[in-house]
Amino acid sequence: MLSYRHGFHAGNFADVFKHCLLVYLLVKLKQNKPFAFIDPFAAAGTYFFEDKFMQKNKEYLNGIIKVLNANISDQIVNQYVDLVKKVNSEKNKHSINIYPGSCLLSSLVLDREDKIYLSELHNNEFEILQKNFANDSRIIVEKKDAYSTLNATISSYKGSRLVLIDPSYEVKDEYEKVTKLIKHNTSQFSDVCYMVWYPVLDAEKTNAFIHNMLSLKIKNTTHIKIELQNSFLRMQGTGFFIINAPSEMKHDVTNSLAVLLETLKDQNYPAQIQYDVF
Ligand SMILES: C[S@@+](CC[C@H](N)C(=O)[O-])C[C@H]1O[C@@H](n2cnc3c(N)ncnc32)[C@H](O)[C@@H]1O
Repeated sequence: MLSYRHGFHAGNFADVFKHCLLVYLLVKLKQNKPFAFIDPFAAAGTYFFEDKFMQKNKEYLNGIIKVLNANISDQIVNQYVDLVKKVNSEKNKHSINIYPGSCLLSSLVLDREDKIYLSELHNNEFEILQKNFANDSRIIVEKKDAYSTLNATISSYKGSRLVLIDPSYEVKDEYEKVTKLIKHNTSQFSDVCYMVWYPVLDAEKTNAFIHNMLSLKIKNTTHIKIELQNSFLRMQGTGFFIINAPSEMKHDVTNSLAVLLETLKDQNYPAQIQYDVF
């Protein structure tokens, strides 16, 4: 049974890096129509700062709140920050009440003719997800196991596609499952853009995952590993494998990632970004 609730972590530093890069990719890739965004580990889509999940550890204080309070002029960071502000200004002009997840952000970025596919296995998260997007005809929401259905889902959309692989890594062999999922799907759909998120936790597990993903030797793989030691959380960084990223991505996002790192890092500890294209 799944117990992870994204609300505990919504708006933390890992969400900020992930959602900033995701918005960048959506804006770029939707230029090629038809376009579909596939988010098979969708979670609920909306997270309320006041609810018990977000209040438990208040991870957003070292994430989105620092970014909102900083005076950032980077255009790619600001296109993400503006969406967070937009979600909130519609409800209340003066305070931040809601943190938008990947699916809500995608629904704001994408155009009327674009498609969005969301799946979520957790009962409560699925119910919220369904309610959140019931009136948006671009969006399909299903309660399906991402690992066994992704292949069929990708094949049901034509044209340019972005797949976000964003599991909770709560199942013991989840890193192996993600590696297998990527191996299988990239061999069948080599033109799709895949964005895989992972947390930097204990070095042995994290390094084994990185090693196994890079051993797949998939062409046009970008690996970004962001380490920011943190006295507050077990997670000491975050990383991404982006397969088939736009060729200009490194040029476009290098400053944005550096600005976010400077804003989010704990000033008492070293922090760094490793960015490699294979
Ligand atoms: C990290 S959260 C997703 C966060 C979301 N993508 C975002 O950025 O806002 C991972 C979600 O995947 C769900 N999940 C875990 N295993 C799954 C599976 N096999 N199929 C579909 N959903 C799954 C979990 O219940 C959880 O809500």
